[in-house]
Amino acid sequence: MGVTQAQQPGKARLLSEATRENISRIALNYDSAQSVVMPALYAAQEQLGYLPDQAIVEVAEILQLPPSEVGAVASFYTMYFRRPVGQHIISVCETLSCALRGAEGIMEHVRRKLNIKAGETTADGKFSLNSVECLGACDMAPVAMIDGEYYGNLTEEKVDEILMGLGL
Ligand code: FES
Repeated sequence: MGVTQAQQPGKARLLSEATRENISRIALNYDSAQSVVMPALYAAQEQLGYLPDQAIVEVAEILQLPPSEVGAVASFYTMYFRRPVGQHIISVCETLSCALRGAEGIMEHVRRKLNIKAGETTADGKFSLNSVECLGACDMAPVAMIDGEYYGNLTEEKVDEILMGLGL
């Protein structure tokens, strides 16, 4: 598929050359621009830590897609962050299997420990907390994903250990 590296004159770019080249390289493996959106957004987020509107516009330009299409993907999936996030990202699943096995209590415990609500980041920028849909690991409910790793069969004690390991 075709990609573009054209730059609008006088407009500062957020995405680095390395990220742009990475996205172009990824695009070589796909037949359609739509299929590249997810890995491209991931590459942009890897560089920036989150996906501000400008990053969405730039990814859309590279892939020659409408920004609304790219933005819709970025907003739909919980692994993309539209706002700055903390150094450690804690995503607690609150869907049915986890809910039946105590997810609400786990979420409440994490909220109390961090003193923030779901969707917020601690004042020191260290932790962000999210409530997410099924993480696909229902057999070990209740589950959280922390910095990209699965933690299952959670108890309050286990949460305390994990948070202590992260410097809380
Ligand atoms: Fe929580 Fe599936 S319901 S991982």
